[in-house]
Amino acid sequence: MKELKISLMGMGYVGLITGMAFAKHDFKVVVTDAISSKVEKLASGIPPFYEKNFEENLKDVIERGLLTGSTDNAAAVHDTDVTFICVGTPSRPDGSIDLSYIEAVAKDIGTALKDKKKYHVVVTKSTIVPMTTEKVILPILEEHSGKKVGEDFGLCMNPEFLREGAAVHDALKPDRIVIGQWDKKSGDALIKIYDDFNCPKLRVSIRTAEMIKYTANSFLATKITFANEMANLCERYNIDVYDVMKGVGLDFRISEQFLRAGAGFGGSCFPKDVHALVSSAKSVGVQTQLLDAVLAVNETQPLRLVELAKQAAGGVLKGKEVALLGLAFKPDTDDIRETRAVPILNALVEQGAKVRGYDPEAMENFKAAVDKPMVYAKSAKEALEGADICIIQTEWNEIKELTAEDFKSLMKTPVVVDGRRTFDDPQGIIDAGVKYLGIGWKNE
Ligand code: UGA
Repeated sequence: MKELKISLMGMGYVGLITGMAFAKHDFKVVVTDAISSKVEKLASGIPPFYEKNFEENLKDVIERGLLTGSTDNAAAVHDTDVTFICVGTPSRPDGSIDLSYIEAVAKDIGTALKDKKKYHVVVTKSTIVPMTTEKVILPILEEHSGKKVGEDFGLCMNPEFLREGAAVHDALKPDRIVIGQWDKKSGDALIKIYDDFNCPKLRVSIRTAEMIKYTANSFLATKITFANEMANLCERYNIDVYDVMKGVGLDFRISEQFLRAGAGFGGSCFPKDVHALVSSAKSVGVQTQLLDAVLAVNETQPLRLVELAKQAAGGVLKGKEVALLGLAFKPDTDDIRETRAVPILNALVEQGAKVRGYDPEAMENFKAAVDKPMVYAKSAKEALEGADICIIQTEWNEIKELTAEDFKSLMKTPVVVDGRRTFDDPQGIIDAGVKYLGIGWKNE
C-alpha cells in the first residue's frame, strides 16, 4: 500500500469511481457521503448506481481493505493527506450551478483543517465554472481553518473526464490528466497520486483547469449538434449522414468521434455544463451565440423522431401503438438525466399514441421520475408485440441484436424509426421487408 492517503467527498459517479481507481493503484481511500444508507450499502460492496464493470472492481478494493465509506468528513480529512471534493453541482432553473453542496463540504474541510498539523491538499473535482475554486471554495477554506493557502494547505482543481458506461475504463486509463494548481507544492501532491497513470499530464492554473472541463464538454456537445444539423440536411438530399461523417472524420484534424448523429445529447453533463457556461458567460457580459444554438438544436432534435414516426403512420399518431426502446440517455447506464426519451414520450402522448417502453437498466429510474402514461415491457421483444411503430432512443446491445425477422413477426406493422443508427446495415433490414426510417438516413 502507498504511503499517501486519499479522501473523496461525495459518493456519486465521480467520487466512487475515482476512489475505486485510486484504490486499484494501491492507495488507501475513504469516500464520504452525507447519506448514511449509501455508506452502509457500500460496506457490503453494493454501489448506489449501475455502471458497467464497476461492482466487481468496487468489491475487490473493499475486500482488500483499500476503500471504505464514511459519513464523517472531519475524520476523513484528519486521516488522509489529500481530499477531493466530488459532490454534485445541480442546475438551477436559470442554468447556473447550485454550489450549496460544494460550500457545505468546503466548510467541513476548512473546520477539520483548523486543528490539523500536517500539510493537506484540497482538490476540486466537481465541475464548477471558472473562478469558483478561487472565489467560493478558497475563502470558505481559509475562513473556517484560519489558515493560509500556499502556506498551511494546498489547493488544486483536477477535472474529471469520465464517460458514463465507460467510466471504470476512463478512471483507470485516462487519456489525459489536468492538474490546476495553486502552487507547485499543491500540484506535486497530484503528480505523486497520478505517478503510475500512463498518460499526458498537464499542469495549469486552477481557473484554466476549470475552463478546460467546460470547453471540452461544450466542444463535444457542439460536435454532436453539428452532426445532427448535417443529418437533418442529408435526409432531404437522400444521403446517409453516417457515410458523410466517415469521409469527414477521416481528416485527422476532425476525427470521427462524436459525429454520430441522432436524437440529441442527454446525460448529467453536456446539457447541464453547456447551460452553466452560457449562464456564467452572461454574468460576465459575454454573448454565446454558438452555444445558444447548440442548446436550441438539441431541444428540437428528438422531436425529429416523432415527425418520422408520424410520417410512417400516414400523418396521424393518434391511437397508434408505439414501442419506445431505450430510456437511458445512452447505453450501459441506468441514468435517465436529460434523456431524449422524455421529450419523445411527451410528444407521442400529446399526439395520442399509446406508448410501451423498455430499457434493460433504466426503467425503475424512469418510472420514478416521469409521470407520463406508458406501459413498461419486460423485454425489447415484448415491447414490440403488436406495435405499429418502433422508436429506438438508446442503442443498447439487446436492441442492436433485434433482427428484421423480430420486427416482422412481433409487430403489427414492421416500422422502425431509429434515433441512434442502431443497426450496422439498415439497408439489409429494409431489404428484408422492414420499413426503416432514421435520423440522417435516406428517408425520402
Ligand atoms: C460526457 C463526456 O463525454 C465525458 O468526457 C465527461 O467527463 C462527462 O460528460 C462529464 O462531464 O462528466 P457522458 O455524459 O457520460 O460523458 O456521455 P457521452 O458518451 O459523452 O454522451 C453524452 C450524450 O451524447 C449521450 O446522450 C450520447 O448518446 C450523445 N452522443 C454522443 C451522440 O448523440 N453522438 C455522439 O457521437 C456521441
